[in-house]
Amino acid sequence: MNYYFITGTSHGIGKSIATLLLADPHNFVTGFARNCSIEHERYTHIKIDLSDDEQVKEWAFPELKNATKIALINNAGTLGTIRYVGNLDAAEIVQTFQLNLVSPTLLTNSFLKKYISNTVTQIIINVSSGAGKNPIDGWSVYCATKAGVDLFTKTIAEELKILNRKNVFVFSVAPGVVDTQMQSQIRLANKDDFSRVKTFVDYKNLAYLEQPDNVASKYLSILAHPEKFKDVVFSVKDI
Ligand SMILES: NC(=O)c1ccc[n+]([C@@H]2O[C@H](COP(=O)([O-])OP(=O)(O)OC[C@H]3O[C@@H](n4cnc5c(N)ncnc54)[C@H](OP(=O)(O)O)[C@@H]3O)[C@@H](O)[C@H]2O)c1
Repeated sequence: MNYYFITGTSHGIGKSIATLLLADPHNFVTGFARNCSIEHERYTHIKIDLSDDEQVKEWAFPELKNATKIALINNAGTLGTIRYVGNLDAAEIVQTFQLNLVSPTLLTNSFLKKYISNTVTQIIINVSSGAGKNPIDGWSVYCATKAGVDLFTKTIAEELKILNRKNVFVFSVAPGVVDTQMQSQIRLANKDDFSRVKTFVDYKNLAYLEQPDNVASKYLSILAHPEKFKDVVFSVKDI
């Protein structure tokens, strides 16, 4: 049996990954989000606010005696309010760091700790962003968190190599530009808060956005054969 723990399964890319995985009767999915929109006999929902580190620290990964594969997909994320630094809300800065960077770090730490003696294939995929590689005005906190996710993941990969833990694979994978609520929020931004808003409106109008199911299938290909992927940080566009 394969066990998948996926954050942000109520809509968008995370819901698509969960739904595609559930099509295989060998797969069990545990999803985390504030809302639940999946009903399935092999789906368990954890109603949680991942921007609250106390809630994340309280959650414990279960014993999995019959597992053949275990995976954690840190997908939940937010842009926060799109605004220039100096106009940001202090509490929201903290929440965005918590959701995008602290919660993946906490979950990855407890995942690796819980399953350290389990020799089955273990995969951690952090859903990153091109915004973690280049600055985008109005998105400073988001850019910083995604850059953090990339380097966090690269460091784990280094540690796993030193520890010779060949059954554990870690990746930080950007999904490209995907037609989800996050993109709807971007298109609503004020031009004074985000100089490139028109480009993103054009992406939608020119049907440039990828559909979540197509992107999710790329993540499934990594989960199916992690040994085929030699880079730690890459984009689904490279697959
Ligand atoms: N869409 C894109 O073009 C794009 C591009 C690059 C990177 N990404 C990355 O891809 C990932 C998924 O994005 P998406 O576009 O699918 O976003 P989305 O449609 O907005 O979905 C976000 C998911 O995260 C969950 N979430 C948000 N805040 C949460 C909180 N405080 N606690 C628990 N769960 C929370 C949401 O569930 P609830 O609201 O029910 O809690 C939802 O299931 C994100 O990490 C994003 O940064 C997306």
